[in-house]
Amino acid sequence: MKININGKTSVFGVIGDPIEHSLSPLMHNSAIAMMGIDAVYIPFNVKPQFLENAISSIIPLNIKGLNVTVPHKTEVMKYLDRLTDVAKAVGAVNTIINDDGALIGDNTDVYGFEMCLKKDGDVEIFPERISILGAGGAARGVAYACSMRDEVREVIVLNRTFSKAEKLVEELSHVTGKTLVPMPADKETLNRMLPPSGLVVNATSVGMYPDISSSPVLDTDVFHDGQVICDIIYNPLETKFLREASSRGARTVGGLAMLAYQGARSLSLWTGEDAPANVMLDVLREKFR
Ligand code: ATR
Repeated sequence: MKININGKTSVFGVIGDPIEHSLSPLMHNSAIAMMGIDAVYIPFNVKPQFLENAISSIIPLNIKGLNVTVPHKTEVMKYLDRLTDVAKAVGAVNTIINDDGALIGDNTDVYGFEMCLKKDGDVEIFPERISILGAGGAARGVAYACSMRDEVREVIVLNRTFSKAEKLVEELSHVTGKTLVPMPADKETLNRMLPPSGLVVNATSVGMYPDISSSPVLDTDVFHDGQVICDIIYNPLETKFLREASSRGARTVGGLAMLAYQGARSLSLWTGEDAPANVMLDVLREKFR
């Protein structure tokens, strides 16, 4: 990749800790090259104790936009000037926009999840009943995306620590006005709740590299054809959860497209131009080949 940085080059980047394994620089710089814009995307390893300083440097350094990743997505909110409704509802920011000296916090993970289902899973209309596994930050974005859809009647949030599922449900029900139901994620409950769910999303970290021989679901009988089974994990591309669902005839969707679409949305917000999500997804796929 030829990089031509000059005095007018716009700077974008990502802050996180650790950051060395982030795929964002690769996909964003590929998209920037394809778009033919004068910009560069840089990874910044920001330790938690330097987060406030890092954020207060955005405007003086004229950084145009940043992505935010683990562990800063929630903590960063208090240092920003404004939050979008989505970021407020989800309680997490993954994108900061430097809007002429005002820092706006947005969350493009929600869009990424919806587009991932649409483009990779052919899901235009969500099913009436959806089960979400997990109650952390990622599950919150997924639960928000699902419960904002008019066609969805019930969103079930199943988590190992039941109290966290209760907390997520209580907070999000106020925002979305939808029926969200907290449940424990034990085998008996999963066996009861998953078969009648048209969409099941794994938003836990179970099955993520290097824990590739684990699945959040122990009994594979819960899967059947007619279901869409989504894992927001992208490493490995096909988790044990997806492999087992696929073997039972369910349609499966992995997390790589979500990564590409959230990135494309961030880049569009910063540049005001359509970012090539397909190019971003292709370079990610290439990386995993
Ligand atoms: P993220 O921001 O990626 O969602 P997180 O907030 O740490 O990360 O949430 C991780 C989720 O994975 C939680 O729902 C967690 O369950 P608990 O709330 O019970 O901790 C879930 N999780 C992680 N390891 C798990 C395991 N071994 N079995 C079941 N659930 C697990």
